[in-house]
Amino acid sequence: MDFTSHLSPVIFSENTEPNRSFYLPSASEEEAFLSLKTFKSSLKVELDGEWAFQYWDSIEDATDFGQVNLLETQEKETITVPSVWQNFQHDSHSYVNFQYPFPYDPPYIPKENPCALYSRNYNYKKDGKLNYLYFEGVDSCFYLFVNNSYVGYNQCSHLSSEFLLDEYLVEGNNKISILVFKYCAGSYLEDQDKLRMSGIFRSLYILKRSPEHLVDFKITTTTTDYKNWKFALVIDGGKEVDVKIYDDKHGLVYSSTALNSLEVDFKEPKLWSAEKPNLYTIVLFSNGEYIAYNFGFRCVEIKDKIVYLNGKSIKFFGVNRHDSNPYTGSAISLEQAKIDLLLMKQHNIKAIRTSHYPNAPWFLNLCTFYGFYVIDESDIECHGSVSQLGYYAGDEVYSHLANSGLYDKAILDRVKRTVKRDLNNSCVLIWSLGNESGYSKGFSEAAHWIKSFDNTRLTHYEGALHADKRFENDFSPLDLYSRMYASPKEVDEYFVFFDKPLIQCEYIHAMGNGPGDTEENVSQILKYPSYLGGCVWEWCDHGVYQGITKDGKHKFGYGGDFATTRDDGNFCMDGLVYPDRRPHTGLKEYKNAIRPLRVKQVSALEFEVRNLMYFTTVGEYLEVEYEIRDFGQIVYKETLTDFDINPQEKKLVKIKEVATLSDFVTVVFKYRLRFDQSWAAKGHMIGHDELIVKNEAKPVSLTTTDSSFTLKENSRYLTIRGNNFLYTVDKNTGLLAKMVYDNKNVLTKPSNWNVFRAPVDNDMHVKAKWFEQGYDRSKVFTYSTKVVETNGLVSIQTELSIASDSVRPFLKGLVTLLINGEGKVVVKYSLTRDCLLSPLPRLGIRHYLPKEMQALEYFGYGPFESYVDKHHSSTFGKYNLCVKENFEPYIRPQENSSHFNTKLLSLNGDNLKVKVNCPKGLSFNASVYSQEELTVKKHNYELVESEDIILCLDSKMAGLGSNSCGPELNPLYQVKDSNFEFECELSFNTVE
Ligand code: GAL
Ligand code: MG
Repeated sequence: MDFTSHLSPVIFSENTEPNRSFYLPSASEEEAFLSLKTFKSSLKVELDGEWAFQYWDSIEDATDFGQVNLLETQEKETITVPSVWQNFQHDSHSYVNFQYPFPYDPPYIPKENPCALYSRNYNYKKDGKLNYLYFEGVDSCFYLFVNNSYVGYNQCSHLSSEFLLDEYLVEGNNKISILVFKYCAGSYLEDQDKLRMSGIFRSLYILKRSPEHLVDFKITTTTTDYKNWKFALVIDGGKEVDVKIYDDKHGLVYSSTALNSLEVDFKEPKLWSAEKPNLYTIVLFSNGEYIAYNFGFRCVEIKDKIVYLNGKSIKFFGVNRHDSNPYTGSAISLEQAKIDLLLMKQHNIKAIRTSHYPNAPWFLNLCTFYGFYVIDESDIECHGSVSQLGYYAGDEVYSHLANSGLYDKAILDRVKRTVKRDLNNSCVLIWSLGNESGYSKGFSEAAHWIKSFDNTRLTHYEGALHADKRFENDFSPLDLYSRMYASPKEVDEYFVFFDKPLIQCEYIHAMGNGPGDTEENVSQILKYPSYLGGCVWEWCDHGVYQGITKDGKHKFGYGGDFATTRDDGNFCMDGLVYPDRRPHTGLKEYKNAIRPLRVKQVSALEFEVRNLMYFTTVGEYLEVEYEIRDFGQIVYKETLTDFDINPQEKKLVKIKEVATLSDFVTVVFKYRLRFDQSWAAKGHMIGHDELIVKNEAKPVSLTTTDSSFTLKENSRYLTIRGNNFLYTVDKNTGLLAKMVYDNKNVLTKPSNWNVFRAPVDNDMHVKAKWFEQGYDRSKVFTYSTKVVETNGLVSIQTELSIASDSVRPFLKGLVTLLINGEGKVVVKYSLTRDCLLSPLPRLGIRHYLPKEMQALEYFGYGPFESYVDKHHSSTFGKYNLCVKENFEPYIRPQENSSHFNTKLLSLNGDNLKVKVNCPKGLSFNASVYSQEELTVKKHNYELVESEDIILCLDSKMAGLGSNSCGPELNPLYQVKDSNFEFECELSFNTVE
């Protein structure tokens, strides 16, 4: 046989069964109910497990240029199905974002096209049942054989296909063989930003079905007033179908027999939403088969350009989710998917876009069960069109493939298959045509088809933005205006004049240390009723597990770590969770930004609490308590009893009046789960609001003491000797170079000025300027040093500038060190910035302390790393940890673990305590890794600890933003002030 179907852009399948909705038939009602949880059934013969396997780099190798019948191959290996063969040392892992991994010459694909033959035995006994082989997904296409006879072909990696095997089966042993190709003509439509992997990556099984079985069914729920509902069922096949509907307590609420269709009226059923995923179960019985399916009563619609669910203008606070796992690749088990969904629930996430293809069919059943609003995306992305000239040449190029007409049929086929497979999932509220493929007649026709087939949901497609303006484009079947990474300003501009509700199918780019624009984006969604919401890009870092280093560190690979010549580096490391699902601090930040309550202070003791939920009262869900924190220490705490607020309403809370001592007082409202949920136990923290109620920072001042000191000066250094200290100031930097306190060395190296940070991923576009202007290698020039001794204090004033070779000074000004007889030091500086140069990454002084000073205590934002634009998951408090633990192991190392607005901190060790007092707040970082080390290393496992603790005290640290893919960092969070004023106090204690 010559394998040519996969070379055609218009052959999608051969001999497959008509597309149908996904369900599992069972042998009894009980089993059918159970199958809803386990996806198992006695009528399902699982074929997952060991298969014989043979891999070739190209089909010519397999058939010895047509001389050998490939099906006669004696496979030399075995492979576990489902899996990807790149995880079995075949071919190579690779990561490219949007560039096609082959020349752009649609529909042609490389002749050197890796392929593999999978085979196994199927023992068949005649039992009066039909045998359907069901594939949940094969990347990219396959030819199916039974006993060496050709059965059929299918392409489209992420959608199901089904074949009736009976005419090929014999009693006893049967050989099922599947020849899978890495590429097919359809690969032009599967250019999604992901690790590129191949093989039978989803389950396959035989369904044993009765002759004349029910083939398909379609469920819809509609309402006119959200009280009276119509449940409609349309049936295809099956002679006579018994229909039963159960409520969530297993109570029978409806029972009858249907032939083709039926409609049932329901009065005030319990409604489904992400907040309350109330379920009903339909059980269909026909010809000895039971099919159970969970559904919810819900209705999504647009009125006055606002999206409503069950009459409420809901919000999508979502994420984009790929099938991705560092150990199993794109082969995702039920358990792995559940881990994702539970984590999402625990972090307040309400919506999922299945980027950029349909997930395994059962995944949506889980989403309906746990409660997620799903944007179900078709398996279409031809983003690579943009690079056909080697650079981006505008929307004509973007929409080139879409407009070529070559794939119009395929686009429609993929959209139809998605909708038909998933249409009974109540969680799906929006159909997405695909991602980043430009726009064309093919797409608008596909969208029109959706609207004609299913008018109970909305349509969305961001690619419409890139329509080639030379053609007439029909956007009418798209219900939503869809954007990606629009800046808050662009969003504001959109709402000046608009005709469709807005959704950002991607916003907040979670790459590395970030995102920093979470609160900003979320509050804008809350502001506009017609802003439906957004999905963070993206849920997880994509990595390939590469084992353990000698010193026990886990290795996760990304682009550049594999045997491929082209790659897109760590752009696949852009999730809210690490590859192994440990939450990033970005996830915690998002969790709190999308918390269900928000609080505003209205008077000294009164706070307005707003319930942002749409279907849930506060009392049904949360326990609310508040703490009054006097300089981070809880001085009063109260749980609000019988506290309830209706959905979308607000209530005033009066807090207790308590005397506080410090100049910084906060009130923290905390929200915890009041009852156990299927995804977390009672008490689980859902979020908090923190309000600063008193902020009266006083300047630092240094008192004179009786103790005296002596001062010595040479051409470079000033030495100040007191009773129990000896400090050396370097006149070439204006900073302390040596500090001996109580005979212990406090500094292991001279302090230095620091305007650089190890670039975070979101600095990737601005960092070129940093290097150009030498922020990473700045030098200090001191113009003058003035020493003044008065009243037992010495003041060392240095006029200086900070610049880099060949560049004019970026900072100029005065630094003053004030030292008293006890060895306390006040550091003050006043610097002006040359505003023609780029904003700074940070501004501060770097100190090097002995490694044993590990005990860190701070009063600031914690416990998570915090930045000017990423501190909403942290609260102002007192935190203790070890310096080594003050580290976020981003897979690609970068600046991490700073703490914004810290007012007091200390490092303790070897009988010495160093204290830093900064009432106005500074950003600090104490780390065992230098910024130089974090800058040059490509992976976290390569990092080598420094010999010192590096303590950075920064008057300013730039925000993080989302600029790796999103808009430029909000100017408010850039370090571009023209003038910097800073002061802090350093003091020391001997600890017994
Ligand atoms: C978007 C795209 C995503 C991802 C992201 C960058 O343009 O839709 O698939 O590539 O950029 O991480
Ligand atoms: Mg893309």
